[in-house]
Amino acid sequence: MRYFITGFAAIVCLVIATAGFQDSLTRNRPIEIFRDMDDQARVRPQSANLFDEVLGAGDGRGSRLPVAGTVSRGATIDDSPVTTGRAEGSDDWVELNPLEVSAETLKRGQGRYDIYCTPCHGKAGDGNGIVTQYSLTTADLHQHRLVQLPDGYLFDVISNGFNATTNEVGIAYSRMPGYKTKISQEDRWAIVSYIRALQYSQLGKLDEVESGRAELQKIIEGQ
Ligand code: HEC
Repeated sequence: MRYFITGFAAIVCLVIATAGFQDSLTRNRPIEIFRDMDDQARVRPQSANLFDEVLGAGDGRGSRLPVAGTVSRGATIDDSPVTTGRAEGSDDWVELNPLEVSAETLKRGQGRYDIYCTPCHGKAGDGNGIVTQYSLTTADLHQHRLVQLPDGYLFDVISNGFNATTNEVGIAYSRMPGYKTKISQEDRWAIVSYIRALQYSQLGKLDEVESGRAELQKIIEGQ
């Protein structure tokens, strides 16, 4: 019996010494008899990785981008013309803004345009925004090509940007940035309609002028 008590006490001490008291904190690794799959080879977020060598990813980034076309859980999959600017079930751009356009829409579009687009494209849409004074070039929105292209195309440029390129240090960007995340869908369509109004303002014909036609004629001829 004496041996049993001494032996039992020794075992208890041993267990406590190795396993610790319940709830005690330790920096040591837990003793795992069956490790199951607790420890996995992994890449820490934002760290470099060896995908380059293993998978030939080529960019050395630990955090991978989702595979193209990935749709996150709970995301609405909506490919209606209002979201894509393309006609239902085809790749063609919608000819006209699918939302109702009123004077209100144009006012809203003007407000948004003045906030987001004027620094580059200028208040009149002629591409003379303030940035041109700092050696940046933008686009004239009155180009014949843009006047003729459908509304859906303009919506797409505003949403996703245009002319993707890569800078000296290899970072991809668009010369014309996309505004999908900054301007709501409805406001992007309002901007499209406002651009149409801007374009229309430059497309007047002399015959359409009601008064002062003669003076205008002189100005035009004087040019
Ligand atoms: C940071 C400057 C910048 C801002 C802000 C900007 N754009 Fe642009 N945009 C550009 C540049 C630069 C181009 C010309 C890209 C090229 O041709 O490489 C361009 C081109 C365009 C084009 C012509 C695309 C084509 O097919 O030629 C449209 C339309 C356009 N922008 C609309 C807009 C609208 C609408 C806004 C406001 C929501 C806006 N942009 C804001 C820089 C800007």
